[in-house]
Amino acid sequence: MKKHVVLLPGDGIGAEVIQSSQKVLDVIAKEFNHTFTYATHDIGGTAIDNHGTPLPENTLEACKNADAVLLGAVGGPKWDNNPSHLRPEKGLLAIRKELGLFANLRPVKGFEKLLHASPLKEEVVNGSDLLIVRELTGGLYFGTPSERRDNGNAVVDTLAYTRSEIERIVDKAFQCAQLRRKHLTSVDKANVLESSKLWREIVEEKKSEYPDVAVEHVLVDAAAMKLITNPTHFDVVVTENLFGDILSDEASVLTGSLGMLPSASLREDSFGLYEPVHGSAPDIAGQGLANPLAMILSTALMLKHSFHLEDEANLIESAVEQVLSDGYYTADLNIAGAGKKVGTEEMTQLIVDL
Ligand code: NAI
Ligand code: MG
Repeated sequence: MKKHVVLLPGDGIGAEVIQSSQKVLDVIAKEFNHTFTYATHDIGGTAIDNHGTPLPENTLEACKNADAVLLGAVGGPKWDNNPSHLRPEKGLLAIRKELGLFANLRPVKGFEKLLHASPLKEEVVNGSDLLIVRELTGGLYFGTPSERRDNGNAVVDTLAYTRSEIERIVDKAFQCAQLRRKHLTSVDKANVLESSKLWREIVEEKKSEYPDVAVEHVLVDAAAMKLITNPTHFDVVVTENLFGDILSDEASVLTGSLGMLPSASLREDSFGLYEPVHGSAPDIAGQGLANPLAMILSTALMLKHSFHLEDEANLIESAVEQVLSDGYYTADLNIAGAGKKVGTEEMTQLIVDL
């Protein structure tokens, strides 16, 4: 199989962990007789510095012509005081929107070895394995108007959704549930928000199309609590953009570190953008300390969802499992007891060697 992958390192540790992906892909290519070609482009703060915009036209063009995109992370203190159109995060929002990537899949699976690494009680976390399906191109992050009024003394943001935007993400979530444990939790705030009322209506309408999936509705505040008091309750969780953003960071504590969580941003066809859930970690950037596993697991998601290479993806996932159970860990993983602390490159090499 021959595939073309665009690499967008971005900023901070993004550039460090994306190299790990490429090393892992090269080994997979060799092992399974595939050809992966790469092109690297700027996004985020690096793109602002080099091209004066967080999403240069040729970066976007390159992504449109690729089979899939791997993205590191964007942002950093250097650009924090920039005007809003020159913020690195704008590049991220724009690329998701421009590429039509409406479905963000965030699998959260506790690795056996990392049970102690979570601040939550082991008996609570044990066995948690859930998938957050977050709507990615609508809602508060994209609604207009979004502006300051009255000389800056009043503000407005807009939470807007259309029926078709909700239908396609709900369909995606039902389909994901069918491939898993067939349990779907739709999270909303239907006791207050008009947008959530339509969301809930659509989930109810869609139920009959997926009779094998059990459906429940949970209000977002209750869901936030349940996610850390009873995480094993959940299989697939579907929710709108802002709620999904918050709940998936919360869910990361189940795995012990943000450095373990991958994500896939998808649309109807097999194209996708894959990135770790974490940011550019300016506090540890440039020191070779970053945990590359979220990026490597995102690469496995790319092989699975965009290239339909299940065996190759499973091999990467089991290598991660193996390296952790061999006792290797990066600085972000708070593992008590004996183990071997390694940096980004060494962790990557361990995966590659398996
Ligand atoms: P962050 O995820 O970059 O870091 C939070 C904490 O987790 C830090 O202490 C960091 O050192 C640690 N951490 C994160 N990933 C790690 C890894 N792979 N290995 C080891 N430790 C890791 O979030 P923060 O600090 O809130 O934001 C930093 C910058 O990243 C900001 O400019 C923010 O806007 C941006 N950001 C970008 C995202 C993206 O590109 N998708 C997502 C979240 C934040
Ligand atoms: Mg976030």
